[in-house]
Amino acid sequence: MQKIVIGNWKMHGDPAMAHTLALQVADVADKCTEKAEVVLCPPAILVLQLATWLVGSAVKTGGQDCHIQPEGAFTGDTSAAMLKQVGCKYVLVGHSERRKFHHETNADVRNKAARAIKTGLIPVICIGETEEERNAGKAKDVLGEQIRECIPEEAISHNFILAYEPVWAIGSGKTPTADDILLMHDYIISLTAKRTGLDLEQIHVLYGGSVKGDNAREILAIEGVGGVLVGGASLKSEEFCRIIQAA
Ligand code: 13P
Repeated sequence: MQKIVIGNWKMHGDPAMAHTLALQVADVADKCTEKAEVVLCPPAILVLQLATWLVGSAVKTGGQDCHIQPEGAFTGDTSAAMLKQVGCKYVLVGHSERRKFHHETNADVRNKAARAIKTGLIPVICIGETEEERNAGKAKDVLGEQIRECIPEEAISHNFILAYEPVWAIGSGKTPTADDILLMHDYIISLTAKRTGLDLEQIHVLYGGSVKGDNAREILAIEGVGGVLVGGASLKSEEFCRIIQAA
C-alpha cells in the first residue's frame, strides 16, 4: 500500500507562500510516487490556484472541510462539488478543530463523509481522543463511538480514509509511543473492518499529531500506519519534504 502524506495547512498561507511551497513539494514528491501519494490541503480560498499550479505533478489537492448539503444558502461554506470541480481528490472531515470550534458532531461528520463520497471525493475522516478522555481510560471507547457513528454506509471500498489524531498530540510536540500508535491503529482497523465488512488490508489509517521530519520515519514504519496527516510541519518546505522522503 502506498503511504499517504497529507499536509493540512489549517488557516495559514497566502498565494506567494502557496506557490513556492507547492513547487518545492512537487519537486520532491514527483520522485517518490511509487511509495507515497502526497496531498496538500490549503485553506479553501487557495485550493483553486494550488490545483492549477500542481497540474502535471503527482501531488493532489484536498479541502479542509465540506458542507453536508450539495448547495444552498450556507454563507461561508464550501460544497464537496466545488472542491471536486477545482480538482480536489480528497477532503478532510471531522478534524478535532472543526469539532471543537464549530461544534461538529459525529453525525455531522458522517453526513459530510457521505456527501464527499457521493461527489467522488475521498473523505479523510478524522478521529481521536482528548487528553481527559485518555487519562480517564476512555480512549478506545471514544474511538469506537467515532468509528460507529462517523463512517457512512457509502464507505464500501477504497473510497474513504481514516486519520487517527489524538487531540492532545496536535500542535503540542507530544506524540504517543510507537507501541501506543501500533495498538490504536490495530484497534481502529479491526473495528472499522467489522463496521464496514471490508478486509483489514483495505482499511487505510493515517496517524496525525506532531509529525515532524525527525519522527516521521519511526512513525511511518509502525505496522498499520498507512501515512501521516501533518499540520505545522507541512508549512515548512524542508520539513515536509523530509516527511515525504521518510514515506
Ligand atoms: P500538527 O502536525 O501541527 O500537530 O497538527 C496535526 C493536525 O492537526 C493535522 O490535521
